[in-house]
Amino acid sequence: MLKNDKKILITGGAGFIGQRLSQALLAKDFQVRILDSFNPQIHTDQSLPADLAGRVELIKADVRDRDSMKRALDDVNGIVHLAAETGTGQSMYEIDRYFDVNVQGTATMLDLLQNEDCTKSLRSIVVASSRAVYGEGAYRCTKNGKVFPVQRSRERMSGGLFEPICPECGGPVHMMPTQESAPFNPMSMYGLTKQVQEQAVLLFARTHGINGFGLRYQNVYGPGQSLKNPYTGILAVFSNLARQNQSIEIYEDGLESRDFVYIDDVVEATVRSIEYTGPFIGALNVGSGEATSVATVAQEIKEFFGSVSSIGVSGAFRMGDIRHNIADVSELQRVLDFVPAVPFKKGLTHFLNWAAAQAPEDKAAYLRSVSELAAKGLMGTASTAADERA
Ligand SMILES: NC(=O)c1ccc[n+]([C@@H]2O[C@H](COP(=O)([O-])OP(=O)(O)OC[C@H]3O[C@@H](n4cnc5c(N)ncnc54)[C@H](O)[C@@H]3O)[C@@H](O)[C@H]2O)c1
Repeated sequence: MLKNDKKILITGGAGFIGQRLSQALLAKDFQVRILDSFNPQIHTDQSLPADLAGRVELIKADVRDRDSMKRALDDVNGIVHLAAETGTGQSMYEIDRYFDVNVQGTATMLDLLQNEDCTKSLRSIVVASSRAVYGEGAYRCTKNGKVFPVQRSRERMSGGLFEPICPECGGPVHMMPTQESAPFNPMSMYGLTKQVQEQAVLLFARTHGINGFGLRYQNVYGPGQSLKNPYTGILAVFSNLARQNQSIEIYEDGLESRDFVYIDDVVEATVRSIEYTGPFIGALNVGSGEATSVATVAQEIKEFFGSVSSIGVSGAFRMGDIRHNIADVSELQRVLDFVPAVPFKKGLTHFLNWAAAQAPEDKAAYLRSVSELAAKGLMGTASTAADERA
């Protein structure tokens, strides 16, 4: 983007990533406009915090509302499209809503850009894609080399066999970092909507010769993440339970892992995408490149709070969840000259110090989210704990 192109629209800018991104852009003298519906599943307050209100232009509206979106898009130089429904499990039964907000919302934005003469000043669109577009991502099979396992079957998981298998020979596989060249293979409706969002934005960018970044965020965490939304964020769920000394139930066998990336690193990668001066249209992984098991996360949170919570490995599983993931961030480094640097232990401490100062959330909403999944037939429980460490 050119040096003086400083007007940025952030859809979903009142959310976790959006607020932090707004602060970072304001600090660099960007003018920030936020369009956000303040989804009540995430927001307790229906307004921006004092340190943002008054410094940004706020349009409180839905991304699917054409008139509001048209106003939001007027005369901007860059767009960061964050507005979305974000719960993997919830997406498996609120399919209509997830497609409507994520896919139709993106279509409305692009349709307005195309047909309402909003592209004049536009230089760049950044869309929040997700690691969910990969599904299980890349694994290594000793016989077949690099493979991309398909969705784990209910039958195998019911037998306590949680690790993915080689799609060629059915043998054991080992996780490896996933590169952007991996095939799209989403295993949740959420992941599928992220794939469509990313592809639609990049196709539009190519058509109009503007920059397009599909940032495939891994599991983002940090101060400011919603502690209220029971459908996302195991750090939020576990910390809430631990500080109230309530039992923590971990899905599967606890050895499933995630690539947790700290919010400041995600914001830095996003700002660098907006500021990028050369031409770029493509996807970039934004992750730490470090895998942490869910059992380790639970244990560290428990220790932080000095909690007496029991940590149980229930063998329960959710359809739509992936087993492991870890991002290959070499392309991020090559293009943006940046790799996330905050180690998980350090970032977790920042998050927990912040979470400890917030009001604890009632466990009821979390329990409701679990029973919703069970009632929809999207959960199962392993009858035996199989040992797969052959
Ligand atoms: N947080 C993560 O771990 C993660 C990982 C991968 C991708 N992402 C993506 O990054 C983006 C931002 O995530 P986040 O963690 O900040 O989520 P968030 O839920 O905190 O923020 C999303 C914001 O979008 C708003 N929103 C939702 N539906 C809307 C609609 N119909 N119209 C207008 N606004 C609407 C919400 O009110 C909220 O403020 C999302 O697109 C998400 O899919 C997040």
